[in-house]
Amino acid sequence: MKHDNINIVLIDDDVQVLKMYENILKHKNYNVIATSDSTKAIELIKSNNAGVVISDIIMPKLNGMELLQMIKMYNNSIQVIMLTAEGSIEGALESVNEGAFTYMAKPVDIEALLIMVERAMEFYTIRNENNLLRQQVAEIVGFTPLIGRNKEIEEIRKKILTLAPTSTTVLITGESGTGKEIVANTIHYQSERAEKPFIKVNCAALTESLLESELFGHEKGSFTGAEKTHKGKFEIANNGTILLDEIGELSLNTQAKLLRVLQEKEFERVGGTTIIETNFRLLACTNKNLLEEVKKGRFREDLFYRINVLPINLPPLRKRVEDIPLLANYFLEQLSREMRKTLEPLSPEVLKIFEEYNWPGNVRELRNILERLVVMAYKSQITVEDIPLEIRCGGTEEQNNEIISLREARAEFEKQYIIRTLKQNNNSVAKASAVLDIAKKNLYRKINNYGININLNNDSD
Ligand SMILES: Nc1ncnc2c1ncn2[C@@H]1O[C@H](COP(=O)(O)OP(=O)(O)OP(=O)(O)O)[C@@H](O)[C@H]1O
Ligand SMILES: [Mg+2]
Repeated sequence: MKHDNINIVLIDDDVQVLKMYENILKHKNYNVIATSDSTKAIELIKSNNAGVVISDIIMPKLNGMELLQMIKMYNNSIQVIMLTAEGSIEGALESVNEGAFTYMAKPVDIEALLIMVERAMEFYTIRNENNLLRQQVAEIVGFTPLIGRNKEIEEIRKKILTLAPTSTTVLITGESGTGKEIVANTIHYQSERAEKPFIKVNCAALTESLLESELFGHEKGSFTGAEKTHKGKFEIANNGTILLDEIGELSLNTQAKLLRVLQEKEFERVGGTTIIETNFRLLACTNKNLLEEVKKGRFREDLFYRINVLPINLPPLRKRVEDIPLLANYFLEQLSREMRKTLEPLSPEVLKIFEEYNWPGNVRELRNILERLVVMAYKSQITVEDIPLEIRCGGTEEQNNEIISLREARAEFEKQYIIRTLKQNNNSVAKASAVLDIAKKNLYRKINNYGININLNNDSD
């Protein structure tokens, strides 16, 4: 047997049937854990780190379909073989739709079952290795996978899979913080250029002339300060990928030069005459509506059509509410691991608040909030009271559309932090000021300034 370290969990409410299959599998030297109580199955699967599950469909208490959903939610790599009594073929088919590995009609042909078990184990191993590999690659290059089950995100993932291996230009659009850079990373690292340079240029960060010398390079002495010949990003990106972030910010001048590079795949350095050839793949990101920019004369139409070959538009977070719990718990886990804290998954109450908020800063804002919550967490679970007020109250439409300034954010953070410390210390200003390591006088001032409305406990003062 090839997969001798994979555990099988077997579930059937019919004890006799259960015993029979258990014996057969044990006889073939499989590690089998059997139970007739389906409500215990998920715990057994977890505690035994099962890779394959064989389960009856019709069972009292928790039926096979419900169990299947729980298993898939817990670990998508686990392969489930469903056993069905005569007359429940429909349920069996549905189970395959829900992600079961296969179904078999009872009484099961033993040889066929053994073959299926072997295949399921193989599948589990591959799935597991794939997940591990993908994770390792992601960790090495330091990028987050694109999380989400929303239909549009699923479509985007499929699209990436088909277009990544090609060399076509991809225009990635979407509001700030929706994951454009993650999409760009994924495309590059899933392409054949993955081991070649991946060069990122933020078009909004530099003045026109600096950006041009950054992109095209310059010859020694081409302008004051140009002491050495400098290779441009298009040259460095040869055989690899170049990401032009915030491409909507390019000046019309630079747009014209970019157009030429895209058409001819060649250019000259600033102040130079030698023609440099280059072979790069272009990815472009923007949170602007480029077609609008074209209409307003701020973006060249010909350039637009050249880069809009395969557009990918990321939906704002408020339009993919179903992904909020998934993302929130993903960040919670990731951040608490980083900060070496053990935190329970978010409660339904907290998730409900998150789902109702409209996230003007999209996924980035959600991640930032979680970062703040994890840093400040002192209990094993984050509660509704920990959530910043502006999120709990949903904020007004207007507030939600602007990103608050750093000063405001800091003030809000300080206010919440003080409230929490006071609560933890029985509302005693003396104790809280000691914990916060500030003078009592200053704490009083802050309480006044922030209008913190708590029945202060001055006993110990
Ligand atoms: N689907 C997602 N899954 C996991 N993390 C995500 C996802 N979308 C965004 N993030 C996280 O949110 C943050 C912002 O994402 P990213 O930088 O890709 O946004 P962007 O669209 O490029 O924003 P901007 O326009 O401001 O540059 C990052 O920390 C990223 O890891
Ligand atoms: Mg970005």
